Amino acid sequence: MKTPVTNIADLRELARKRVPRAFFEYADRGSYDESTLRENRAAFDRLRFRQRVMSDVDHRSLATTVVGQPISMPLAIAPTGLTGLQHGSGEIHGARAAARAGIPFCLSTMSICSIEQVRAATDAPFWFQVYVMRDRGFTRELIQRARAADCSALMLTADLTVQGQRHREIKNGLSVPPKVTLRNLFDIASKPRWAWNVLQAPSRSFGNLEGRIGGADSLTTLAQWIASQFDPTLNWDDLEWIRELWPGKLIIKGILDAEDAKLAVQHGVDAIVVSNHGGRQLDGAPAAIDVLPSIVDAVQGGTEVLLDSGITSGQDVLKALALGARAGLIGKAFLYGLGAGGEAGVTQAIELIRKELSVSMALTGALDASHVSRDILWQR
Ligand code: GLV
Repeated sequence: MKTPVTNIADLRELARKRVPRAFFEYADRGSYDESTLRENRAAFDRLRFRQRVMSDVDHRSLATTVVGQPISMPLAIAPTGLTGLQHGSGEIHGARAAARAGIPFCLSTMSICSIEQVRAATDAPFWFQVYVMRDRGFTRELIQRARAADCSALMLTADLTVQGQRHREIKNGLSVPPKVTLRNLFDIASKPRWAWNVLQAPSRSFGNLEGRIGGADSLTTLAQWIASQFDPTLNWDDLEWIRELWPGKLIIKGILDAEDAKLAVQHGVDAIVVSNHGGRQLDGAPAAIDVLPSIVDAVQGGTEVLLDSGITSGQDVLKALALGARAGLIGKAFLYGLGAGGEAGVTQAIELIRKELSVSMALTGALDASHVSRDILWQR
């Protein structure tokens, strides 16, 4: 009998078996010694709830809004690179599953399916995440393409102008589009379902960059490719330029310090994502959830505060809400669902988190996900 999937860890285990190692580890691992990756989890685990009883928790509302958009629960899908190589057409599956669940999907610049391919395959508007490239003309074009596709928010990633080294990417010889080499021959051959889905997909390389910038296969590592394309001069003055190109909702991701959060408010962003890029960038940085309270205090309601980095359950989402986040974003948890079961797997990941959140709200006496108080956390 097949063991039922009951949590995100089960989806991770299935993804580990179904996705070629180079792509699974790209999603699963962090930078350098992975101390921040581990700390993201440890910090969530250290937080404890107060268990409350006898207060009629039958009617609970998970619905809320993010940047003015109504959503069915305080969750969004984070932009993740190479998503279409966890499962063919991965971005389309992610966008469709998110739309059905009533939550936002954010497409990455480094996606495999392009903005236009995702637009054509889905009805609901999605968010677009932009990396500022050295070629500013190309960056402008990307933003214009997101506007033409009616994307409902633009998310600027601020914490990856220079890439933190991920040892596994180098050791696995990660390449885009995927190549069968002597090293991965048996691995790919043992995943025929993955290969079939990737072959059916509209794209196998960086869909948004096609024809403009070569793939990452010509260089030894993805990091070298990023180093040659991403603009390390990115600074706060550039936000004005982005604002001119993008009159819609603007979110900045990768804020991990109260001073930077204040600057983001001064520059008029609609939301910030407190994030250490899922432990993939500055190893040694604190857990996002640990810095969240200081950032919420610093912005004083001047912008919406979202959080990613380490969320793998509804309990984690509730802890983030209790510490002042409006919603959480999932990267790894989304990719595990996708790798495990395509669109159905993403739906499963979202619904697992939804149920965990709902039950944890009941057991802490929190009835409304749009107003969760710090009081639900236990003080030692
Ligand atoms: C890209 O955003 C990555 O984290 O690999």
